[in-house]
Amino acid sequence: MKKPASAVCSVLALTSICLLPLFSQQQTTPATSAPEYGSNASKGVPAEDTPAQREELGRLKAKAEEINAADRAAHNEAVTPSYNFHYGKANPFVPGNITVQGEGFIQPGAFPSAQYCGTCHQDAYSQWRQALHSNSFRTPFYRTSVNLLIRDQTRGIAFARFCDSCHNPIAVLSGGLTEDSKVNRSQMDSDGLTCMTCHSVVSLDSTNGNASVEMGIPSVIVDEKGNRIPGEVPFAEILRHPERHSKAVMHDFLHKPEFCAACHKANLPATLNDYKFIRAFTAYDEWQQSKFSQRNPLTFYTGDFTTCQGCHMKRNPVTLTEYGAKNGTFASHRWLAGNTAVPFYYGFDDQLKKTIEFLRSGNYLNVDIFALKKQGEDQLIAPLGRASYTLAPNDAMEAYVVIQNKNIGHSLIPEVRDLYEAWTKFTVKDASGNEIYHSGFLKPDGMLDPRAHSFTNRPVTDEGDFVDSHKVWTIHSVAYDNSVQAGRSVLVRYQFRLPADIRGPVTLTAKVNYRHLRQSYLNNIFGTDHPAYPVVELSSRTRVLQIGENRPEAPDPADNPDWMRWNNLGIALLDQFQYAEAVEAFTEVIKLRNDYADAYTNVALTEIVWEKYDSARMAIRKALMLNPNSARALYYDGLLQRRAGNTEQEIADFKKVVEMFPQSRDARRELGITYYQQQDEHDAMEQFEALQQIDPDDLTAHYNLSILYRRMGMTKQAADQQAMFIDKKVDPGAPTYSLNYLRSHPEISTESIPWHMHSDILNEAKGLDHGN
Ligand code: HEC
Ligand code: HEC
Ligand code: HEC
Ligand code: HEC
Ligand code: HEC
Repeated sequence: MKKPASAVCSVLALTSICLLPLFSQQQTTPATSAPEYGSNASKGVPAEDTPAQREELGRLKAKAEEINAADRAAHNEAVTPSYNFHYGKANPFVPGNITVQGEGFIQPGAFPSAQYCGTCHQDAYSQWRQALHSNSFRTPFYRTSVNLLIRDQTRGIAFARFCDSCHNPIAVLSGGLTEDSKVNRSQMDSDGLTCMTCHSVVSLDSTNGNASVEMGIPSVIVDEKGNRIPGEVPFAEILRHPERHSKAVMHDFLHKPEFCAACHKANLPATLNDYKFIRAFTAYDEWQQSKFSQRNPLTFYTGDFTTCQGCHMKRNPVTLTEYGAKNGTFASHRWLAGNTAVPFYYGFDDQLKKTIEFLRSGNYLNVDIFALKKQGEDQLIAPLGRASYTLAPNDAMEAYVVIQNKNIGHSLIPEVRDLYEAWTKFTVKDASGNEIYHSGFLKPDGMLDPRAHSFTNRPVTDEGDFVDSHKVWTIHSVAYDNSVQAGRSVLVRYQFRLPADIRGPVTLTAKVNYRHLRQSYLNNIFGTDHPAYPVVELSSRTRVLQIGENRPEAPDPADNPDWMRWNNLGIALLDQFQYAEAVEAFTEVIKLRNDYADAYTNVALTEIVWEKYDSARMAIRKALMLNPNSARALYYDGLLQRRAGNTEQEIADFKKVVEMFPQSRDARRELGITYYQQQDEHDAMEQFEALQQIDPDDLTAHYNLSILYRRMGMTKQAADQQAMFIDKKVDPGAPTYSLNYLRSHPEISTESIPWHMHSDILNEAKGLDHGN
C-alpha cells in the first residue's frame, strides 16, 4: 500500500528536473522527496507523547502563535491605510461572502504552500496542479474577464473581490484587491485554489454561495487538547501525530455537497451590479433537486445517493507517495468534469485525456432517435426500431430526437453557460455518405451553426445586447436558457425531405457535442488565430432507415426500454407545453407497464398544469392504489385536494410528504401555503422557515414570512424578508431586454420558444400542421 518513499522519489526528482526548465506550468510534482513514514508510526494508534515532547509542542505552539500574530499585525499595518474600503470598514471582502477568523486581513504567508503539502501528498499535488482549481486565477480566460471588471469605468478592482472570493480567495483575504496593492501575489496567483483554501475552511454559512465560507487561521496540526497551531510545522510533528494533522485539515463537511455549494452557487448581488439579485448558477440546488440527493420526492426517476465528490472526486488507486491514501486509493484531486480548454491550453495531457474519458463514462446522456412524422400524416411512427412503416423517395418528415439527461447530477450545462457550448449535431446521409440534412455543424471559422440546437443560454444587458466575455455584472435578463435539467429530457425536432432519386438506406445520426469554450469567446481572448479547441462527443445514436418497408429490429443494448423511451418523450413534451401529446405519451407508458405508479402520476401532473382536474384525480387515484406511500403521488394529490376544498386531506397529504422528505422544498412550500390559508400562522411560519433553510432564496418564503413576522410583531425580521423579496423577485422590465435582443437576432430567436423546429425546408414548413 505505502510505497517506500525513496524509490518513487528518485523517479520524481528526475521528472521535476526534466520538466521544470521546459515549461514550468507542467511541473506537476513537488521538488522535494517525502520524509519516511510508516515504519515507526503505526496508523490508527495515536502515539503517546513523552513529557519532553509535550513541552516541545507547547513551545512550538507559543512560538507559532507569536509569529503569526506579529506577522498579521505588521501585514495589517502595511495594507489597511491605503485599502479601498468601498463597502465600509466592516465589510472589507464584500461583494464576496468569504470571511476569515480574527481581526482584519490575513498575511499570505499564513497559508502553507501546496509544495509543502505536496511533499507527503504527491498524488494530491500532481492531480491538483493540472485541475481547474489550481488554475482558477492564472488562465488567460479568467484573467481576461476579470480584467474587464477591474478596468470597468464605474467599478474597478474592489469589485473583483466578488470574483476572487471563489477564484483567488487568498488575494481577497490578504487585502490584495485594491488600487496600489502592497501584497505580493505571485504565489497565490499561480496556485489559485491551493490546498489550504479548502483544507483551512472551518465552517460554512448555510448555502448562500458566493464563497460563503469562514477561513480559519491555516493550521496543519492541533495540540493534544485540539487547539490549532498556526502555520507550517516540522514534518516530524505531523508524522508522529497523523491523527492531530487530520483533525486540523479534515472536516466532515468536506465530504458533503454543501461544501462545494459555497463556490458552486453564485448570484450577482446588487453590491456588484448596482441593480438587483440575479441568479448566476447553482449546481448545488440542481443537485439537491435531482434524484442523486434523495431529497426531492418529485423527480421522474430515482437513483442511488451520490454527492458531488462521488462523481468529481472518485477514488482511484494511488500512483505516487500519498500519505493521505486509504486502502491504496485516493479521492481524485483532478475534479474531472467538462473543461478541456484549460488542460488543452497548458498541455496537461493527462488531465485532458482523463476529462474526455470522464465525459464519455457514466452513461450521462441518452440520445434516442425516437420517432418520425411524415408530412401530412398525423400518425407518429414510434418508437423507431419497434414500429413498422414505409418510406418513399421525396417524403418530407420530422425526426424526433429525444435527449435525456440521464445520470448527470445537475443540468447540462450547469455553470457559466455563456462560455461553454454543448449542442446537438444531426445528420441525414444517403448510402454513399452524401449529406441530405445537417444541423449543428462547425463553420470553417470554427463558429457553431447559429441554428443548431444548443444547450446554452443568452444573458443580455439592459440594452438588449448579448453579455459577451462573461461581463456578468451587466446581466439584466436572460433571453433563453436551454440547458437540460437533471433527469429531464428534451425533444429536438428536425425536418428534412428525402431526395427524389434516393435508392439505398438513409442514415440518421444524432450526437451531443461539448466544447470549452465557445468559439466567439476564444476569439475574444486570443484573436481568431488560435488552434481549434477540443470538441468532445458526449453521446450519440444512429439509425438506418430503408426506402420501402421498415420492420422492427433488435434494440441496441444501450437503448432505454420502450416504456422509458415513451416516458422521456412525455417529459419533453410537458416541458414544451404540449399537454395533450404528453398525456398520450404517458398513456403509452401505462400500456407497457400498468404496474408503474409513476406513469399515472405523470398523467396527473400534466392534467394539473392543463387544469383538467377531474381526469387528474382519476389518474392520481390509480397511482395511489398501486403505491399508497408514493410521496410523489401524495404531493399531487395534496394539490388536487386543495382544489376540491378538502383541507384535512390536503394537510394530511403534504404532512406525509414532509415526513418522508423533510428536505423537500416543494412540500414545505405547499404545506406552508395550506397553513397560511387556514390562518394557522405558527405552523405556516415553521414550514416557511424550514423552506428557507433548504433554499434561502425562495420567493414564496420571503413573501409570506414578511407578512407573518409583521403580524407577530417581529418588525425587523419582517422588513428583512420584505427587502430580500424585493431584491430577488423578477424585474418587470427584464422581459423587454430579452425581447430587444431576440428581435435583433432572428437567426436564433426561435431557440427561445420551447416548441421549435429545425428545418431546411422552412417555406414548406409553414404548410405543416404541428398540433397545438
Ligand atoms: C510530513 C508529511 C505531511 C505533510 C507535509 C502534510 N501531510 Fe497531510 N497527511 C500526512 C499523513 C501521514 C496523513 C495520514 C493521516 C492519517 O492516516 O491519519 C495525512 C493526511 C492528510 C489528510 C487526510 C486526513 C483524513 O482524515 O482523511 C488531509 C486532508 C491532508 N493530509 C492535508 C494536508 C494538507 C492540506 C497539507 C499541507 C498544508 C498536508 N496535509 C501536509 C502527512 C503530511
Ligand atoms: C461563487 C463563486 C464564483 C464567483 C463569485 C465567480 N466565479 Fe467564475 N467560476 C466559478 C466556477 C465554479 C467556475 C467553473 C464553472 C464550470 O467549469 O462549470 C467559474 C468559471 C469561470 C470562467 C471560465 C474559466 C475557465 O477557465 O474555463 C471565467 C472566465 C470566470 N469564471 C470569470 C469570473 C468573473 C470575471 C467573475 C466575477 C465577475 C467570476 N468568475 C465570479 C465560480 C465563481
Ligand atoms: C477545492 C477544494 C480542495 C482543494 C483545493 C484541495 N482539496 Fe484535498 N480534499 C478536498 C475534499 C472535499 C476532500 C474530501 C473528498 C471526499 O470526500 O472524498 C479532500 C480530501 C483530501 C485528502 C484525503 C483523501 C482521501 O483519499 O481520503 C487529502 C490527503 C487531501 N485532500 C490533500 C490535499 C492537498 C495536499 C491539496 C493541495 C495539493 C488539496 N487537498 C487541495 C478539497 C480540496
Ligand atoms: C473556494 C471555492 C470553491 C470550492 C469550495 C469548490 N470549488 Fe470547484 N471550482 C471553483 C472555481 C473558481 C472553479 C473554476 C476555475 C476556473 O475555471 O477558472 C472550480 C472548478 C471546478 C470543477 C471543474 C469544472 C470543469 O469545467 O471542468 C469541478 C468539477 C469542481 N470545481 C467541483 C468542485 C467540487 C466537487 C467541490 C466540493 C468538493 C468544489 N468544486 C469546491 C471554486 C470552488
Ligand atoms: C452523478 C454524477 C454527478 C454529480 C452527483 C455531480 N456532477 Fe457535476 N458533472 C457531472 C458530469 C457528467 C459533468 C459533465 C457534463 C456537464 O457539464 O453537465 C459535470 C460537470 C460539472 C461541472 C463543469 C461544468 C462544465 O460545463 O464544465 C461542474 C463545475 C460540476 N459538475 C460541479 C458539480 C457540483 C458542485 C456538484 C454537487 C453539487 C456536482 N457537480 C454533482 C456529473 C456529476
